Amino acid sequence: MYNSKIVGAGHYVPEKIVTNKDLEKLMDTSDEWIRERSGIEERRYIEFGKDTTANMGTKSAKIALERAGLTADDVDFIVFATLSPDYYFPGPGVIVQHELGCKRTIGALDVRNQCSGFVYALSVADQFIKTGMYKTILVIGSEVQSNGLDLTTRGRAVSVLFGDGAGAVVMQRTEDNNKGILSTHMHSQGEFAEALCVKSPGNFKETKFYEDMHIDYDYSTCLMDGQLVFKNAIVRFSEVIMEALQANGYTADDLDMFVPHQANLRITQFVQRKLQLPDEKVYSNIQRFGNTTAATIPIILSELWEKKGIKEDDIFVLAAFGSGFTWASALIKW
Ligand code: UT7
Repeated sequence: MYNSKIVGAGHYVPEKIVTNKDLEKLMDTSDEWIRERSGIEERRYIEFGKDTTANMGTKSAKIALERAGLTADDVDFIVFATLSPDYYFPGPGVIVQHELGCKRTIGALDVRNQCSGFVYALSVADQFIKTGMYKTILVIGSEVQSNGLDLTTRGRAVSVLFGDGAGAVVMQRTEDNNKGILSTHMHSQGEFAEALCVKSPGNFKETKFYEDMHIDYDYSTCLMDGQLVFKNAIVRFSEVIMEALQANGYTADDLDMFVPHQANLRITQFVQRKLQLPDEKVYSNIQRFGNTTAATIPIILSELWEKKGIKEDDIFVLAAFGSGFTWASALIKW
């Protein structure tokens, strides 16, 4: 058995910055409310017709490959996590295979686990590398949220939180079993599926796809029971991090960096307090990008790569919670 390790990370966010003040012009909200409740100051939105989920994934993948000193032809497999695909089907993984110009018809898999999507995708890639099936895998998280947001007062409880962006990592095998992805841990609790969901397009029992999808607000817009999500998130984040630490004989004191999914700064701070981590060991960029769902963690990994924020042998934990409910963690030794 091999281990897998991250050998390159890249990200791409659209140029257009949308501040809380910009949103004040569209709906009854305030910069103060958004900052206090979520920590968000601004987010990025795509320029319609210019960027898509798939092509932002490709852009970030190209950067990750370059930083890894590899080319598209080195990639054996693609795993793509998103809740906002270009098409209802096929998923964006195949579009990346094409846009990267891969000479080989490598496989591409799409992961549907929303905020936990990237950690799930990383785990899938890790298993393929561990068994020796593939040597080099691209793992991408990318989202265009702005297209599906209700930017009126009716949608404010959801729409102020989300932004667009993409991140990618390249994973490769290592024969050092003490390095790379040490373990991954995934969970779900489907009884809460409707606490954070978009029902259409889908084959949900009460909907008729073509007749209802554009006309019924409750089916085509993101519905979220924010407080229920919040309460579950703070419990599950802490649990799944402890699970990862305990599985490897570590404690929170051993962590060099906590890389949380960026859903709400208050969630991150709650977990930080519980783990008693100092500020310099917790990464947050929600202030600049909002919640970019499956893209948040790879964007952070890319920023850390750029800042040389991760050193050889650093121990860090990735953790995410979101729609499903699903939650997951990965413990990594760099
Ligand atoms: O990525 C994973 C998925 N998402 C999450 O993890 C989100 C988890 N939940 C949260 O982050 C928080 O619940 C929110 C940030 C979504 C909301 O914060 P909250 O402190 O739970 O606020 P609330 O939903 O209890 O709403 C408080 C008030 C309400 O007004 P009333 O009923 O007290 O008069 C809302 O109608 O704030 C109102 N409100 C807003 N006001 C201004 C809701 N959205 C807004 C808004 N601007 N954008």
